[in-house]
Amino acid sequence: MTDAETMLDRIAAAENLSELEAVRVSALGKAGSITALLKSLGSMDSEGRASEAPRIHALREQVTQAIAERKSTLENAELERKLATEAIDLSLPAPEGLSGTVHPVSQVMDELAEIFADLGFSVAEGPEIETQWYNFSALNMPENHPARAMQDTFYLEPREGEDEPRVLRTHTSPVQIRAMEAHGAPVRLIAPGRVYRSDSDATHTPMFHQIEGLVIDRAITLGHLKWTLETFLKAFFERDDVVLRMRPSYFPFTEPSAEVDVGWSIEKGRRVVGGQQGWMEVLGSGMIHPRVIANAGLDPAEWQGFAFGTGVDRLAMLKYGMDDLRPFFDGDIRWLKHYGFRALDVPTLSGGVGA
Ligand code: DAH
Repeated sequence: MTDAETMLDRIAAAENLSELEAVRVSALGKAGSITALLKSLGSMDSEGRASEAPRIHALREQVTQAIAERKSTLENAELERKLATEAIDLSLPAPEGLSGTVHPVSQVMDELAEIFADLGFSVAEGPEIETQWYNFSALNMPENHPARAMQDTFYLEPREGEDEPRVLRTHTSPVQIRAMEAHGAPVRLIAPGRVYRSDSDATHTPMFHQIEGLVIDRAITLGHLKWTLETFLKAFFERDDVVLRMRPSYFPFTEPSAEVDVGWSIEKGRRVVGGQQGWMEVLGSGMIHPRVIANAGLDPAEWQGFAFGTGVDRLAMLKYGMDDLRPFFDGDIRWLKHYGFRALDVPTLSGGVGA
């Protein structure tokens, strides 16, 4: 005969889930004692069954419930134990081999912020979903301007109540307008961020990163622009022999406009920035077009300025020697381990921004 009390005692005494499971099987399993009692009902006469059945069913109910309660108690205790013993101290450094790396794009953005902070520039941001006014028109690229077609723009579905669809910004230049509107003048800032163009090959991805520079003040000249770019590129490439060449160019939002090349030379069989064996283009720049200053609500008779824009990914490739842009955005852990930076190596001018 099954003693209900013994069974309940054994359930209460089970110290872990496997002991409890053993008790459950011995009572309710195929060959369990309560299962046997249930089976025995079949061979009883109706009188015996009438008196025994309620007792046996009640026993089964009682034992089933006791097991469920004990199970939940043990599970909670197990969870408490895990929480207490497996707590992660997020302030501890990750063990060797387990730590992630800082992506070269983040690294270069940090380096640029550090360099320009030293020159008194702040950091500004703007939306990646932009109106055509900010992305084009305010920058002196009116509708039907050929420069709009040059940028392989992604157009979004029009929003209700808006007659013009928004775009994924094709460059960081719209932040120029937003910054002048928000802060007035004088202004000195950089604006790093994602930009989008429908383009894809070894050196183009549909999303990439740019950084914009903007200075607005009184009596700003091309000389200020050239000095700023030279100082920036020398600090960034960490070489004093960085030589700049400014070539006349055209951008709708600057007048005059210049494309800037840096000299390169071959060192140990590799092409590096510095010297002047050859030239490669690194950025676009110019004196802000008076119409752009007016579009941003300032008086161009009082305020002048310069701007420049360049690709952050491209700067990273030039400095750290990658020749394909696509793996930047593949999330391949081997690439990240190889080209990534240690999280604690924060770029500082005094320590060399290159980490
Ligand atoms: N927005 C231009 C582009 O994406 C780059 C650029 C050129 C930015 C000249 C500037 C500039 O601020 O002055 O191609």
